[in-house]
Amino acid sequence: MTGLCWGMFREVIGAPTIAVKGLPVTSTAPPPIPRAAGSFPLIGHALKMRDNLGFIDSLRETREPLVEIVLQPGTRTIVVQDPALIHQMLKALGPSLDKGRLYDKLGQLLGDSVVTATGRNHVRKRRQLQPAFAHTEISRYVDLMRAEVTATVAAWERGRSLDVREAMVGLSLDMLAKTVFAGSLDDAVFRRLRSDLSVVMNGVGARMMLPDWAERLPLPFNRRFDRARAGVRTTINTAVDDLQASGHDTGDMLSMLLRAIDEETGEPLTGHQISSEIFTLAVAGTETTASVLSWTLYELARNPSVEARVLAELDEVLGERPVAFDDVIRLPYLNWVITETLRLHHPGWLVTRRTTEETRLGTWTLPAGTELAYCQHALHRDPARFPDPLTFDPNRWNDATQTLPPGAFLPFGDGKHKCMGDRLALTEMVTALATMLRSVRLELAEGRVVRQVARLTVRPRALRMTVRPRTRPRAGVGL
Ligand code: HEM
Repeated sequence: MTGLCWGMFREVIGAPTIAVKGLPVTSTAPPPIPRAAGSFPLIGHALKMRDNLGFIDSLRETREPLVEIVLQPGTRTIVVQDPALIHQMLKALGPSLDKGRLYDKLGQLLGDSVVTATGRNHVRKRRQLQPAFAHTEISRYVDLMRAEVTATVAAWERGRSLDVREAMVGLSLDMLAKTVFAGSLDDAVFRRLRSDLSVVMNGVGARMMLPDWAERLPLPFNRRFDRARAGVRTTINTAVDDLQASGHDTGDMLSMLLRAIDEETGEPLTGHQISSEIFTLAVAGTETTASVLSWTLYELARNPSVEARVLAELDEVLGERPVAFDDVIRLPYLNWVITETLRLHHPGWLVTRRTTEETRLGTWTLPAGTELAYCQHALHRDPARFPDPLTFDPNRWNDATQTLPPGAFLPFGDGKHKCMGDRLALTEMVTALATMLRSVRLELAEGRVVRQVARLTVRPRALRMTVRPRTRPRAGVGL
């Protein structure tokens, strides 16, 4: 540790272990894992976590591969900062780790699902859902997605200020909901389900950060959440019963889940199991996509030359026709723009894991039950790997990927829990941006800098932009 780094810490804990059962004894002990400054008895780093993202980001300045933080009294969480160790944690150690604290909480709130499951249970659940994310299925969803974007943009009043984040959350939920159960539900039921899901998603972000007892307080916020969660369960149960009774295959994700067989019991999935999967798909797939779309629109407004180049590419590749599935890979510059947003404004701020047995990570030995975490947001802003990291520069993706070490850029994670919706999300984002940008221009007030906040995802604190019609022609911008 350099002299500079010592200022960050008040305590250095735990003598390093050098012998592990079943592993040879090494003579060089790893350095102790330092604890980040600002921890107090009883409350740990609670005060620091008032600015959770700033705190986690600041840990990088220590240049330590591993740093300990205390999120809950009595529980140490080791933040893994070195890309090689993150890679090891996700890939080599992935199968033996539990998902950790944040996912425990998600499971308590929304039930056991592919997002929270571990071990064989996880493999089974992932296999059940996999067909819904196949290439052919995603290509079928594009028309539904585009129709949603077109309807959303048409409803925006020109010349009026728009809450962009709220609009993107609504749009992402609509795109996902249409692909998951549009075919199986009539319009009124679909609207009720969509509105209940929206309440659940908003509530989950807050509840993940609150102690368990706070959820039981008889507050309007808690009652609304409980009612909406029960509403989703009832709607899905009814839809499952109706679909089973009719034997009808509507071709959507819900219909596919109904055909899935639980390998353990040999029985079809229950309504409860299906609604738990749908809850977590909505949570995993809506806030994330919405945050990335919001940040992309923000950066395009701040970088007119980037926006002009995106529009020129859209003109050249699409002309006047609407975007189709095959275009997703035919728009390289738009893909760089999205990749750069996933770097600079990654929505994930803490991904957790937990050791289930004594585990060797690098040269460190961690006892069973150690909470681990990594932060994509901080990782992607590391100047050692991304020069001038706070500058939005899509051109860095022209050739940068070849030089990045494993574990340095993880927009969709890695290993056995790698995002199942990565291709779906990219398709949604390309479809949404290609459709939106050609009909409207979203204008940011002069000099407006938007601040970020980390809740369920890292998102803009408030992002208001004025909707302007897009005027043609846009010729004269070269690729
Ligand atoms: C830009 C949008 C998205 C980003 C940045 C993103 C990112 C991620 C990341 C980093 C993980 C790994 C978490 C971990 O290691 O614990 C993950 C997992 C997951 N994501 Fe996404 N995601 C996005 C969109 C979606 C969408 C649209 C869906 C589906 C509707 C989805 C479904 C999932 C699922 C099911 C998992 C859990 C996979 C498993 O544990 O096996 N995601 N996502």
